[in-house]
Amino acid sequence: MKISDPPPSVESPRHWLMGSAFYIQRDPLKWIPQWMAEYGDLFSIHSPFGGVTVVGSPTLARQVLVERYPKYLEKGRSYALLRILMGNGLVTSSGEFWRGQRKMTQPAFHRRRLDAIFRMMVACTDHAVDRLAAGEDGRDLAPVFSRLTLEIISRAMFSTDGDEGADRVGEHIATLNEGALRMLRQPWRFLLPRKIPTPFTAQEVAARRDLDAIVHRIIARRREKPDEHDDLLAMFLSACDEETGRGMSDAQLRDEVMTMYVAGHETTANAMCWLLHLVARHPEIQARLHEEVDAAGDALEQGQLNAYPLVRAVIDESLRFYPTIWSIGRRCVEADELGGYRIPTGMPMLVPIFQFHRDPRWWDRPELFRPDRFLEGKPCPDGVYMPFGAGPRICIGNQFALQELVIMTVGFLRRLKVAPLEEFPVEPAPLITLRPKHGMRLRWSART
Ligand code: HEM
Repeated sequence: MKISDPPPSVESPRHWLMGSAFYIQRDPLKWIPQWMAEYGDLFSIHSPFGGVTVVGSPTLARQVLVERYPKYLEKGRSYALLRILMGNGLVTSSGEFWRGQRKMTQPAFHRRRLDAIFRMMVACTDHAVDRLAAGEDGRDLAPVFSRLTLEIISRAMFSTDGDEGADRVGEHIATLNEGALRMLRQPWRFLLPRKIPTPFTAQEVAARRDLDAIVHRIIARRREKPDEHDDLLAMFLSACDEETGRGMSDAQLRDEVMTMYVAGHETTANAMCWLLHLVARHPEIQARLHEEVDAAGDALEQGQLNAYPLVRAVIDESLRFYPTIWSIGRRCVEADELGGYRIPTGMPMLVPIFQFHRDPRWWDRPELFRPDRFLEGKPCPDGVYMPFGAGPRICIGNQFALQELVIMTVGFLRRLKVAPLEEFPVEPAPLITLRPKHGMRLRWSART
């Protein structure tokens, strides 16, 4: 092998039109481990429409995401879809523009800010559990948690804004999210010339128009009275670039609001579905969780999150088992040498987080759901476990998400117990997030 060689290319199976990329598109959770066993930790998958290089070892992933991050600055092609939803916000932007936005938005996720929204998260969760407890057993929990996490991000963003449209923001985001997923299942659409209009339905177009109008109206009103609120939007409005002294334009603000909505709700909702699915299938863990929740007392208070070590370990282990962001995409912007191979400029790269989390080279019995591994000390070598990514672009909302997940888990398990609905198929669908393909139906009942 010479360093001038590109990574080995997957030879089979090959689709007549899309090459091997067809298979990674359809079932990456199956094919990536198989190809890694055959080709090693770095290999390319080709298609007539452009390939992708899979970075299958955490050491190489660290080089891409952290150490040589400027060489892999751009986001991959899959982010084009997110751009339709989020515009040029923190998730989709790159380079200096991203750096400036990250600096301006970071303070909104400071510990003090999370303390300020603690009670709101508890109240929203209690309402959702009330509704659930009064409803029919065996319902799909995916929409229940999607609605709850949307409500939480809405209130964190706009607090009680009083805009008659603020309540519709969540609904519109859900409509557009479904539209984006529909398009993701038809990737050939991205090959059409740009002049062919994006195939949104009339309902999605209307949702988008109303959403933009609501967000712009709220921003305009806030600019007139900037000191009246204490929420994420207020933080974004008061943020300014250290070097230029300028704040965000209305268009930037709109994009960051949309970004937080989209990035901040489905990830956490899916994580909660997977967690309850795993807990339902492990009654002995559920019994210990109930004990811990009961022992911590009635009210879930701020600053009390450390009273739930098992809850936290179950969250960590669920995010290992089902990382809701299952992979990270980048594009090489300056030719590099990685793992002894040449990576040309322009090459899309894929970091398969789910594979790192299930690889027996780094975990003891990774096929087992065993939260105790996180209580017993270091469960894996550094850099292997990365549900929130790594490097400068690590999830800005990770502490927000962890606080929310503890509150939702405690709020749910304090009142309810769960059991599997045996005949219901549970299958992960790796789209933008790792969702339960058929939803998540479980049995639940009130605890006496
Ligand atoms: C369990 C829940 C969550 C998971 C697993 C998760 C995971 C991730 C991952 C892996 C990334 C890195 C993507 C990359 O490097 O390309 C990321 C980025 C991001 N996440 Fe999260 N996330 C979660 C919740 C949240 C929440 C609650 C928010 C906001 C309230 C949020 C906002 C963001 C944003 C804005 C970025 C882009 C950061 C940047 O590029 O500077 N996420 N998330």
